[in-house]
Amino acid sequence: MKHFTSLFLIVFLIISCKKPESSLVDKTQKRGLITQKAMVVSARVEASKIGSDILKKGGNAFDAMVATELALAVSFPYAGNIGGGGFMVYRKNNGEIGGIDYREKAPLAATKDMYLDADGNVIPEKSTLGAMAVGVPGTVAGVFAVHEKLGSLPIETIIKPVIDLARKGVVVTKKQERRIKHFQPYFRKANKDSILLEQAWKENDTIKYNALANTLERILQNGRDEFYKGKTAKKLAAFIQENGGIITEEDLAKYEAKWRTPITFNYDDLKVISMSPPSSGGICLAQIMKMVEPFPLHEYGHNSLKSIQVITEAERRAYADRSFYLGDPDFVNIPSITLIDASYLNERMDDFSFEKATKSSDVSHGTIQIIESNETTHYSIIDQFGNAIAATTTINAGFGSKLYCSELGFFLNNEMDDFSSKPGVPNMFGVTGGEANSIAPQKRMLSSMTPTIVEKNGALFITLGTPGGSTIITSVLQTILNVHEFDMTMQEAVNAPRFHHQWLPDEIRMEPRAFDADLINQLKKLGYIINEKDAPVIGKVDGIMVLEDKTLEGGADRRGDDTAVGF
Ligand code: DON
Repeated sequence: MKHFTSLFLIVFLIISCKKPESSLVDKTQKRGLITQKAMVVSARVEASKIGSDILKKGGNAFDAMVATELALAVSFPYAGNIGGGGFMVYRKNNGEIGGIDYREKAPLAATKDMYLDADGNVIPEKSTLGAMAVGVPGTVAGVFAVHEKLGSLPIETIIKPVIDLARKGVVVTKKQERRIKHFQPYFRKANKDSILLEQAWKENDTIKYNALANTLERILQNGRDEFYKGKTAKKLAAFIQENGGIITEEDLAKYEAKWRTPITFNYDDLKVISMSPPSSGGICLAQIMKMVEPFPLHEYGHNSLKSIQVITEAERRAYADRSFYLGDPDFVNIPSITLIDASYLNERMDDFSFEKATKSSDVSHGTIQIIESNETTHYSIIDQFGNAIAATTTINAGFGSKLYCSELGFFLNNEMDDFSSKPGVPNMFGVTGGEANSIAPQKRMLSSMTPTIVEKNGALFITLGTPGGSTIITSVLQTILNVHEFDMTMQEAVNAPRFHHQWLPDEIRMEPRAFDADLINQLKKLGYIINEKDAPVIGKVDGIMVLEDKTLEGGADRRGDDTAVGF
């Protein structure tokens, strides 16, 4: 328990810097950037600008997605990547929807017990630090698949500005300076040689990413196969193996991104479109929203006692189902239809009472009779044609496995930790899993990433998402509810203080100094355990809302350096 709590703390400490005297939550900013036609919101101004410039050149949201994703790999190595993976959900201007899964996969040599010692105990750090933690990266395959199917500009026009940015360099922000410093001991532990980010980088320094620029140049010349079958693949596989990992050239050659049908559901007059497995995001979000829908949250009020109770209890039940039922749909049968069925979810809330907290030990996964066969970063884009994308990408922890390939210029993920190494033993985010999310060769590890698009009365309304591990789903949930139930602007919805419950551990995590002391006492009296220590901030939501006059409002989360750019 202690192990995952401290890891959880580390992940969140580096999402932002700690301000001891006041809350990190900005409650003052009312409206975000307003633009007439198009917008990109991401974790770094450089990436938002590169994406927005692509739109200005006449590119569509999918061209801008490729540019923004790769620009984040350069400007935000903490989570942006070509050594990781992600998910993207889209809605075209004609209403057509879709999603792509470019999630990492377990290598061919992976085994169910690969992180256990001879006594069957989880070996600390084996799934989080260094080469054994790395899953086969999917980002390059993902962006090329998107470009091939949906893009409109030549790939050179899209990638060239990213290469230029890597060569010109990226200015270090205050938050980044603290993050780099915080992680340097881990870089030392994971790497044989000193790496670029081990230098004493200070705010306003410029870091040039020449090795990454060279890799991107080769990818531009030779296409996605450069990363999976070319010189880069050979170097990458050799590098991982030299560092004790098991990824081979065959693993890279076999990798494919997959188009997936998003999860869709209605909530009042909204239609929510979110990511399907192997992300748990869409199903969990649907479960929570359908469980809270019968309650008049608007009357209870934002972050009121009753709202927090209802949302917490729905979250508790949804995460219990997540732990049991969800995994890679190519390996396990997921009863998706039943899991998001309103009558099943109403039954799940049958034992809820406003008088007393439910205990997680009294909650298990729901019973389903018919089994049908069947540190991350988010960016949102709406283009001048009315197409929208929501994309969340990650190398899992901040700087992933901390293993950095100096020759190729990027960090490798530690996504293998998102598998359940042992049933019931929590991972880095404190979430437990079972058979459905056990390790197998070529399997994708379960994710919480929840890139989401919302329609209102049939028209595009919001595109949003966030990092934050297991808190991603509940941050997306609260942001949608803030707009829909509590009439907030996009920026207010993003700024508002957040809380989180994930079944186990049985506690409500709350952003510190952001909630009223009386409210917390009332929750405690009802039997809720409150944890205000382990999550200095919860999520970093980036979203765009279409306003009634059809202009766009960006919500860029100031918990990070996130910025909206558009025209
Ligand atoms: O896929 C997932 O759910 C995690 N690997 C996401 C990691 C994350 O959000 C880290 N950021 N705080």
